[in-house]
Amino acid sequence: MPVVPLKEIVDRAFAERYGVAAINVVNDLTMEAVLAAAVEQRAPVIIQTSVKTVRSIGIDLLFAMWRAMTAGIEVPVTLHLDHCPDREFISVCLHKGWNSVLFDGSRLPVAENQRLTVDIVAEARSVGANVEGEIEAITGVEDGIGSDEEADRESLSVALEFIRTTGIDVFAPAIGNAHGVYRAEPKLDAQRVSDIVAAEPIPIALHGGTGMTDAQFTDLIARGCAKVNISTALKIVYMKSNLAFLEGARERNSWDPPSLFAAVRADVMQMAAEQVNVHDFIESLPGSYQEPLRERGSGLSTGQKQLINFARALAHNPRILILDEATSALDPVTEARLTAALDEVMKGRTTFVIAHRLATIRNATRILVFDQGRVIEAGTYDELVQRGILLTMNGLASALRNSG
Ligand code: 13P
Repeated sequence: MPVVPLKEIVDRAFAERYGVAAINVVNDLTMEAVLAAAVEQRAPVIIQTSVKTVRSIGIDLLFAMWRAMTAGIEVPVTLHLDHCPDREFISVCLHKGWNSVLFDGSRLPVAENQRLTVDIVAEARSVGANVEGEIEAITGVEDGIGSDEEADRESLSVALEFIRTTGIDVFAPAIGNAHGVYRAEPKLDAQRVSDIVAAEPIPIALHGGTGMTDAQFTDLIARGCAKVNISTALKIVYMKSNLAFLEGARERNSWDPPSLFAAVRADVMQMAAEQVNVHDFIESLPGSYQEPLRERGSGLSTGQKQLINFARALAHNPRILILDEATSALDPVTEARLTAALDEVMKGRTTFVIAHRLATIRNATRILVFDQGRVIEAGTYDELVQRGILLTMNGLASALRNSG
């Protein structure tokens, strides 16, 4: 799986309502660790660079690192320039090979922001890249960009007009989110995401991901936040991991740089793995991965049992896999992530999927529709949709709506 355009990653996430982590990296070690975590978790990831990071490393060296680290990579990845108010620098990164850019015109009058964004979208298209747009500043200063003052939010009609006129691929509205560390649990205007998506189905970027609760992520992703930005969490893990290792090195009077790199890499990978996949509930068990399972899995929810059973089946590396409603007890976010992982898992084996939900059979080679034990239709997902078949089936109609 090569490096892909941002749109390819976020459109699918948006359609199937799962979130893809967009993680700001700060150097070679963190870039490699986040990519390694994505490969290990078999999950897509968006690698973001701030303008400050690009300038501090140098655009040529940073891009050469990206090229080298993603050569032959097995999961979809994409390189994104985060908040950039500098129009010329946008062009430089687009022509260097960044897959997408966020033009941060949020301090400009909307009309001026809109005019420049139209121009940037045209330029991005000419090099096969994508554009994220914003009309209100996200609260907080990140890598020298932004302000701690909360900006006024524009009306829904202004936001929609901006999205339609500019043709951007991803929209980043202010919803009470902020960059940096939240002093208290943020109060988020989730309805604003739903209102925008209902009127204009566009993948939404959720900024200020560090410090949001699982419930907030689940809710916002289900409403259309397909790109989930994380920066501060990585910076904290990176700095604290270095500090902890160096304090230990001083105590031991042992100074071995490769051991420092390995320790920090492991911590950054773990943090990134937590953002890109769903093993949180295993981590939350008292014994984590060593937790003994009780009789019939008591103490676990139905969805958790389903995930564990799934992992157990795969541990046998079977040639034939039969999934009978394998995701029926999962929440929509976990289901969507598992469905994405299934695409990989199914490679090289024959898989039968018994499903009532369309999201799980979208990529099937052949779908058989049963009615009272008799096959009444057969074909691919697209063929059946064209013939209007799936829409007439109970349960599938709503799944089709949810999957865009
Ligand atoms: P945090 O720094 O709060 O994780 O936000 C990241 C972000 O939104 C980058 O644009």
